[in-house]
Amino acid sequence: MASTLITGISELWTLDPALDDPSTPHGVADSQVLHDAALVIEDGVVAWTGPAADAPSADRRVDVNGRAVLPGWVDSHSHLIFDGDRAAEFEARMAGEAYAAGGIGVTTGATRSATDERLRELVRGRIAEAVAGGTTTMETKTGYGLTLEHELRSARLASSLVAAGELDEATFLGAHLVPAEFDGRDGRPGAEGYVELVSGEMLAAVAPHVRWIDVFCEAGAFDPEQSERVLRAGAAAGLGLRVHGNQLGRSGGVALAAELGAASVDHVNHLSTDDVDALAATASLATSATDLPGRLSVDAGPTVATVLPACDLSTRAPLAPARDLLDAGAAVAIASNCNPGTSYTSAMGFCVATAVLQMHLSLAEAIRAATRGGALALRRSDVGHLAVGARADLHVLDAPAAIHLAYRPGMPLTHQVWRHGAPTP
Ligand code: NIG
Repeated sequence: MASTLITGISELWTLDPALDDPSTPHGVADSQVLHDAALVIEDGVVAWTGPAADAPSADRRVDVNGRAVLPGWVDSHSHLIFDGDRAAEFEARMAGEAYAAGGIGVTTGATRSATDERLRELVRGRIAEAVAGGTTTMETKTGYGLTLEHELRSARLASSLVAAGELDEATFLGAHLVPAEFDGRDGRPGAEGYVELVSGEMLAAVAPHVRWIDVFCEAGAFDPEQSERVLRAGAAAGLGLRVHGNQLGRSGGVALAAELGAASVDHVNHLSTDDVDALAATASLATSATDLPGRLSVDAGPTVATVLPACDLSTRAPLAPARDLLDAGAAVAIASNCNPGTSYTSAMGFCVATAVLQMHLSLAEAIRAATRGGALALRRSDVGHLAVGARADLHVLDAPAAIHLAYRPGMPLTHQVWRHGAPTP
């Protein structure tokens, strides 16, 4: 394959893991951001980075004319497989209603009714929106089917998009809500019956199509004991663990995630000191490589605290304490949580700006959390940075410096996005 030399880079955020500074484990070292730099791509991966003056020759040359270049965003939490929207619910919330898990049932109804073709096109359209904003690695979840048939359909759709290289990671979230059919009335089974189904027959059908299992551990969804059963069954089926935890209250999800060695616990709005300490205590756990290139073992490494700034704003929740988590030494990721109920946006640049402006992260901490942090939460070593050998996923900003992301919030600062070494349309 022809090589490409990219020149004219005012700031190149390589975030090279080999240059991590142990004294600021979740920050960015000076050596991880190059100035007046160039980058060479070969066979879809980064082949060289360094000062523009030392750049080697290549078959093709692209001048980005003094723009900043970052690794593409790694969005480690989204729910893209759905039909319908919940604009009316959002409007009611802005008028004072509280968010409750039950809204998931509304989207489940709309999603079950959608044809396969429609659902596929909706998801592909949402991926295209995310890419247009600089996202180059994306996870998505099932969770709006909630029957074996519909969860399997969502998992197959996600896995076909992973196989096509349009999506990167697929997660089974059958334990998103106990569906109405399991209300325990008139002889119908109750929540226990649904937990059995999710961790038994449904899991067995879906597991071959996904890498991860997730559970919504929260009042109104699944309690810690039910969540643990679902997660243990998932682990026994070879899946990595993810948890929605402590979104609406101190649900026990964070403690459970840390105890079971989940790769990520997401939301984390309501944390006790013990929760923060439990996450920080996992931060020094090493990840370990497997035989899959770019993918690390799902059951080693820290439990990443994934904060979802757009969701916090959209539900008027207390912002997740990302600053406290970093100060305590926990690993932090930023993700969009794109879904129709609590965060109908995949704009990672907006999430990064919010993390800087309102969660008090430095720009470098926020960029790292939205790239390397997301990659760690997905146990990926090939994305989230631009060291030699990384996937050539580039986010070229329409700005000379990355600080413009927070300095000019809401502005369309994505100039160009490259995935696997090629510019996206
Ligand atoms: O991550 N909290 C649980 N799941 C989604 C919301 C789903 C919905 O309300 O439709 C979330 O915020």
